Amino acid sequence: MTVRPAGQKAPVIAVDGPSGVGKGDVSQFLASSLGWCIMDSGALYRILAYKALEIGVRTDDVSRLCELAADLEVSFAIDGDALQVIYEGADIGDAIRRENVGVAASQLAVWPEVRRRVVRAQRRQRRSPGLVADGRDMGTEVFPDADLKLFLEASVEARANRRFQQLKALGFSVSLGSLLQSISRRDEQDRTRKHSPLIAAQDAIVINTTRMGREAVRSRVLEIVRDKALDRLAQNKPVARASQATHALPSPH
Ligand code: DC
Repeated sequence: MTVRPAGQKAPVIAVDGPSGVGKGDVSQFLASSLGWCIMDSGALYRILAYKALEIGVRTDDVSRLCELAADLEVSFAIDGDALQVIYEGADIGDAIRRENVGVAASQLAVWPEVRRRVVRAQRRQRRSPGLVADGRDMGTEVFPDADLKLFLEASVEARANRRFQQLKALGFSVSLGSLLQSISRRDEQDRTRKHSPLIAAQDAIVINTTRMGREAVRSRVLEIVRDKALDRLAQNKPVARASQATHALPSPH
């Protein structure tokens, strides 16, 4: 592993893009390949939404939400294909991935005071040997100094289909039509909100995955990581070839 000079911040790869585009899978793949930490930044908004729904706090009650967000501590671990989201000692990954929690997360994420507190918690995740940060504003707001910024795109139909397959595999029963509507609504909300809208950073590398297979996306991101020489910062092991990766991007349809 290449050691950075003392005082230098740990490197960050920002993986941004809209809901259901496959950022999570690319991020897990990169974090496993490099031996870096991983953060699903949306999980922090989702945990906040989950807590708010649980205790009956409305998604426009900014002062209560700020109180809830003040002590947001979460950790992540890759377990096979799954990403564990450890909060208050338990893995709440499945619970926070429900559609109603996602919709509430999108609603409360419009408030700048709430975002400020969540962003502080997100920045605390930056640790050695490096962080792969999956989100919407990782490259623009949270880590503007990221070593590499990737922005993934795909059509709404392809993304709804991927989310449908994921939820089905988790045992949730949802209709494709309602997912399509929900993702389109969330896209609109995320892209048009005043604070930190979903937008590619000027220095981001944009990858449209609509017609790309899993292997092609993996190969492309690894190629970029090697171009940027970030594989030299891999923790104690050579970077995996795309086909050796253990984490799968949902297949595009
Ligand atoms: O990525 P996700 O679907 O888990 O995110 C849920 C919501 O959280 C999303 O609709 C908007 C918000 N979010 C955000 O505002 N900024 C991020 N970096 C990640 C998520």
